[in-house]
Amino acid sequence: MAATISKIIQALEPSATLAMAAKAREMKTAGKKVYDFSVGEPDFTTPQHICDAAAKAMADGHTHYTASGGIAELRSAVAKAYQQTHGLEYGPQQVVVSNGAKHSLHNAFTCLCDPGDEVIIPAPYWVSYAELVKLTGAKPVIVPTEESNNFKLTPAQLRAACTSKTKILLLCSPSNPTGSMYTPDDLGALADVVLEKNLLVISDEIYERLVYGDNKFVSFATVRPGLAERTVTINGVSKAYAMTGWRIGWTLSPLNIAKAMDSLQSQETSNPSSISQYAALAAVSGPQQCVGDMLKEFAKRREYVQGRLAKLPKVTCPEMGGAFYAFFNVQAHLGRTYGGVQVNNSADWCLQLLAQQGVATVMGSAFGAEGYARLSFATSLDVLEKGFDGIEAFLKS
Ligand SMILES: Cc1ncc(COP(=O)(O)O)c(C=O)c1O
Repeated sequence: MAATISKIIQALEPSATLAMAAKAREMKTAGKKVYDFSVGEPDFTTPQHICDAAAKAMADGHTHYTASGGIAELRSAVAKAYQQTHGLEYGPQQVVVSNGAKHSLHNAFTCLCDPGDEVIIPAPYWVSYAELVKLTGAKPVIVPTEESNNFKLTPAQLRAACTSKTKILLLCSPSNPTGSMYTPDDLGALADVVLEKNLLVISDEIYERLVYGDNKFVSFATVRPGLAERTVTINGVSKAYAMTGWRIGWTLSPLNIAKAMDSLQSQETSNPSSISQYAALAAVSGPQQCVGDMLKEFAKRREYVQGRLAKLPKVTCPEMGGAFYAFFNVQAHLGRTYGGVQVNNSADWCLQLLAQQGVATVMGSAFGAEGYARLSFATSLDVLEKGFDGIEAFLKS
């Protein structure tokens, strides 16, 4: 007899991004040429001084359990880096180190949400937010934003979405999947509503270091007095230091929330990998030139992607302020056939683009925005060029 899976897990949507990446991998294994723009993962190798720090940690015997919330040196280094960059003081005990920023988000939702609580998530949203909220029994309240407003939540939309059950606002800037960024003024105006409605905020700042042109990153907790007491800031090494596989993320939060997350983690996973923590320590407290070098490369790719998108007929895409994603509008290209196959929605469109041209993107519907597709440009210019040739050929087909 097959075991019955719990209702809460049955209701969980598997990650569409990982599903598209798996399909792309399947095609590659079958010998097909695939241009994979599905996964948000830098294609650079982790900088050498970080790898060396991991090797040294092993040689020095740092191969055992650590404190559940992370080694003291890393917690202090994160707090110090945040103070230097953003000017807010956090003690090391207010930093909880986890197995990637996704785990930090899971900890935060689990420690803050009770069944029935509402969490406001602006759409388009990163695929995991709503699922992580659902795991707690709380309700994700999806608030659609407008492409014409660069996919940013307005204070009026936030106010209108609040009910007596609203507990948390989730913010992600720079955004996955759109690359859009809130200005300091935008954040200030949202913060006024947060204070008025007495909300908590989970601010996902994992793309903080990947910001282009004149865009200025501002950490949400700093834009009004009193926000640090109601904000859990999420960050980590995955994106800025090309360390997705090391699985280190963290939170900065009020002490009582940090203690709760530390205690949850002590029962769930004990601690993040000791070796990865020493690698992350080298990333945070070592030379930062590597981040600038990778950013320069991303900036070239972003410019290239914007140029190619602008040339696609009847495709629109707001300028990307940060991160490494383009979220483009393909509504004008739905409701017709491609190579004899009817394509009615963004999922059909992405699946046929993959099947017919070997270009892997992710359907907007997975991010709560039908009629769009997401493309990650964390890949080489050469691959981008060939992939865009494929997209052009697909639109003409
Ligand atoms: C917005 C956002 N938050 C969090 C994460 C998770 O990061 P990590 O790999 O450190 O778990 C990602 C990864 O794609 C992301 O895009």
